[in-house]
Amino acid sequence: MWPYPKVVAHRGGGKLAPENTLAAMRCGLHHGFRAVEFDVMLSRDGVPVLMHDPELGRTVKGAGRVSDVDAVELCSLDAGSWFSPAFAGEPVPLYEDVVRFCRANGIWMNVEIKPTDGFEVETGRVVGELTQDWFKDEIVLGDPLHLPLFSSFSLDALQAAAEAAPDIPRGFLMDRIAPDWREQLKDLDAVAVHTNHKYLDRQMAQSIKAEGYGLFCYTVNEPRRAREILSWGVDGFCTDRIDLIGFDFS
Ligand code: G3P
Ligand code: MG
Repeated sequence: MWPYPKVVAHRGGGKLAPENTLAAMRCGLHHGFRAVEFDVMLSRDGVPVLMHDPELGRTVKGAGRVSDVDAVELCSLDAGSWFSPAFAGEPVPLYEDVVRFCRANGIWMNVEIKPTDGFEVETGRVVGELTQDWFKDEIVLGDPLHLPLFSSFSLDALQAAAEAAPDIPRGFLMDRIAPDWREQLKDLDAVAVHTNHKYLDRQMAQSIKAEGYGLFCYTVNEPRRAREILSWGVDGFCTDRIDLIGFDFS
């Protein structure tokens, strides 16, 4: 139902490093985390990169839409200075480079497909095709722990990913659990529900678990709250506070 780690470093290194960078992945690893969540978006020329916001400016120096910039240029932009001078010049990484880093270090990946408006299907398809190809040997072995788990708030992106990568499992991200969650999960052939812990209650957690789905929450930063949702049957969660909530938290 949830063969994956219980505690996952959000955006690579949570609040301890610039989000969605290789420096963040190294930071998570340094704290013992071998499970990571990150966001993947397409550049103008259709290359998946790690990026949360559809617009430049908050974490990456520059202005304008990510979907208007080619990958080679995105990867030359500074994604570290906003966090601290120590990370100045830290680049926007390619999805491919992050996958390589995670595989080399035995880090399990929750790949959040984060399309910009209008690129839902294309983003799901491209991320799906590449991932299915990169993991073809692991797919044959059939151990889910050796495969990434896709997730997305976009049903269209997840459906496109499912078509392109039928062997990479999917979780459906819902900020609040939709009334028709059972139908949506069935349509997607999803293995898990990913949801905002703030809107989850014990009863809903139990209903989801009773249907046999994995249940994953974001973004849990207080140990007491983490213990509470785990007591409801939540299987896993991501955290920004990898300093407070360790990879071996219980
Ligand atoms: O995948 C869980 C979480 O990352 C979803 O929200 O905005 O942090 O990508 P966000
Ligand atoms: Mg995310």
